[in-house]
Amino acid sequence: MTLNLTSSDHRADPLAPQTASAGPGRLLPEGFVLGVATAAYQIEGARHEDGRADSIWDTFSHTPGAVVRGDTGDVACDHYHRFAEDVALMKSLGVQSYRFSTSWARVCPDGRTVNTKGLDFYERLVDSLVEADITPWLTLYHWDLPQALEDRGGWPTRSTADRFVDYALAVHDRLGDRVSTWTTLNEPWCSAFVGYTSGEHAPGRQSPVDGLAAAHHLMLAHGRVVTALRERDTSLRLGLTLNFTVADPVDPGDPRDVDAARRVDGQMNRIFLDPIFRGEYPADVVADVQGLGLEDHILDGDLATIAAPIDVLGVNYYNGGAFSHLPPLTTLNAAPATGRPTRSPFPAADGVHGHPRGLPVTSMDWEVQPEGLTRLLIRLHEEYTGPAGTTLHVTENGAAFDDLADESGFVDDQARVDYVRSHLSAVVDAVDAGVPVQGYFYWSFLDNFEWAWGYAKRFGIVRVDYETQERIPKASAVDYARIMRTRQVVA
Ligand code: NOJ
Repeated sequence: MTLNLTSSDHRADPLAPQTASAGPGRLLPEGFVLGVATAAYQIEGARHEDGRADSIWDTFSHTPGAVVRGDTGDVACDHYHRFAEDVALMKSLGVQSYRFSTSWARVCPDGRTVNTKGLDFYERLVDSLVEADITPWLTLYHWDLPQALEDRGGWPTRSTADRFVDYALAVHDRLGDRVSTWTTLNEPWCSAFVGYTSGEHAPGRQSPVDGLAAAHHLMLAHGRVVTALRERDTSLRLGLTLNFTVADPVDPGDPRDVDAARRVDGQMNRIFLDPIFRGEYPADVVADVQGLGLEDHILDGDLATIAAPIDVLGVNYYNGGAFSHLPPLTTLNAAPATGRPTRSPFPAADGVHGHPRGLPVTSMDWEVQPEGLTRLLIRLHEEYTGPAGTTLHVTENGAAFDDLADESGFVDDQARVDYVRSHLSAVVDAVDAGVPVQGYFYWSFLDNFEWAWGYAKRFGIVRVDYETQERIPKASAVDYARIMRTRQVVA
């Protein structure tokens, strides 16, 4: 829907002049891009339409007990059929850029053969974005490997990286003239370790060995696609998106807690950052995972391929964590959604325990800790992206809360309003400290399929009524529209 507001409607109009209550705010830097993000499997639906075949998430979500309440992405937000309405709503809110992903299983249903109709959909989407003056930001892989490729071994198998290059080039053939920013992978940590080690995500394997093999092949696939796209067109802006945890020791004076935080930082952040920016796996991580076969997969030339220079590092930040060698055993981000048995996603972090710090939490139980984002951006700039000349964008930040809709469907989500304001303010703190952060994408534009949690968790600034598929902007959408219009953040 576009906004349909009557004078008696209590939903605020995002296009109305700024209200006095918004007050003065901190100005966003000039040229700073504000956008929203989604991903194919989480919103598209249209499971088998126009030649799409199953991805690992179709198989997984149809596995009893894998997803809360047995939810699947079969219909999701029906974005496949409603994309024009969704783009119109983005435009009415003043969104500058839209980060979305293409579904590999829609473009190459059997993992090899290109499905023209699948590409037609993304062409329609991109054309409508361009027409609406919204800059498309395309992610090639947001976790939905074609099931046909999983059947041939999935990411732990090297040839999957070859297939990824074919797929990326097919998408580029069609859209390269209209899309200039390309992200290869979204959160390879989740694809590798939540998919193949903890088993909480598709394909649900529970093997540290497979997780490490998957991580290496994902990185290899990333590097190959960067090289192939760069050869095609030097003007493209290329990169990948990583999810980061700012890992603090519970007791900074206890070397065992310091080591616990080091392990989490190593096996979550540096295991990807170091190969990309330094062409090597970190020595401490290699030592931690010794005996789990990582070295067996690293062939001559791989690390140089992975270290192909990138233009943009996408930063997904939701929360940090405090870690100790002592229980309680509440490993961050790894609370099982379904009650289905899972193991730690970390290949070698036995005896590492996440501890709540008494901070407010979202409905994911993730601590709200905006200053962690400032610290993260400064560290990334100083240690990795600054020396490499790579820019930073926050490609995801957002929060799920237990939204209460009134009888008209409106959600007055002040907690989400505060979350966005405080995190944007944390970004401005980093910019003030000299970090060239160039944009921020709220996750997510729409409520959607939150992986193992199904539809039970709502991250959107726009509510989706899953019965009717009505889109209803929440108070947070109104506030974000104000920020996009005024360029002022109220901290
Ligand atoms: C990161 C993932 O990229 C996205 O798919 C997910 O929905 C959000 N985090 C929230 O968990």
